[in-house]
Amino acid sequence: MSELGAKKSGGLSRRDFLKLMGAAGTGLAFAPFVPFGNFMPNPRQASLEKVPVTLPDGKHANIKSFPVNHAEIITYPATGDSALDAEAFRKWQFIRLPEELGGSKSDPSALRAYSMICLHLWCLWKYWPDDNKKQGECPCHGSIYDPSTGTAFEGPASLQAPPSNTLARLTLEIDSDGFVFIMPPKFDVHKNGVIGYGRFA
Ligand code: FES
Repeated sequence: MSELGAKKSGGLSRRDFLKLMGAAGTGLAFAPFVPFGNFMPNPRQASLEKVPVTLPDGKHANIKSFPVNHAEIITYPATGDSALDAEAFRKWQFIRLPEELGGSKSDPSALRAYSMICLHLWCLWKYWPDDNKKQGECPCHGSIYDPSTGTAFEGPASLQAPPSNTLARLTLEIDSDGFVFIMPPKFDVHKNGVIGYGRFA
């Protein structure tokens, strides 16, 4: 398949793969816990199902109790194996947006779940809810992400061409009791995105 064909089908071209490997070489210095071997570049071997959003305290996230302008780390896809579930590529920032970005609504538009793998060199970024910030920040080289879109607007990740300036994202759903679920994702740059590589916004 041609490179263009590979991209259109959602696969990674050889050049993209080499770029990822180059990033991994540097990223390893910052994230040596990522087991690149059987996990590159995404958890394709995992069974991707609709599952509850499980918070770090083990509770099922509910829009009625999850605070506005707040984030927690969630794991997807979880396997039940603590070593696998600790992998950085399974970690997502589950965010309820600040009020000014629609976070007080009780529908899925108030929520986001973005891969925590920074698109620059794969450090882990996090959401800062402080008054003067309310944005995602990567501690390594200062990439800043818009919590509403997952697109970097400052720092080295913002200088990368799409799709490598916008984080992979999970699709969320809320049931009639307010409980939040993750819908089965498609790890494709034109759909939910590719973890550590990006998504066309
Ligand atoms: Fe460089 Fe995040 S890894 S800004």
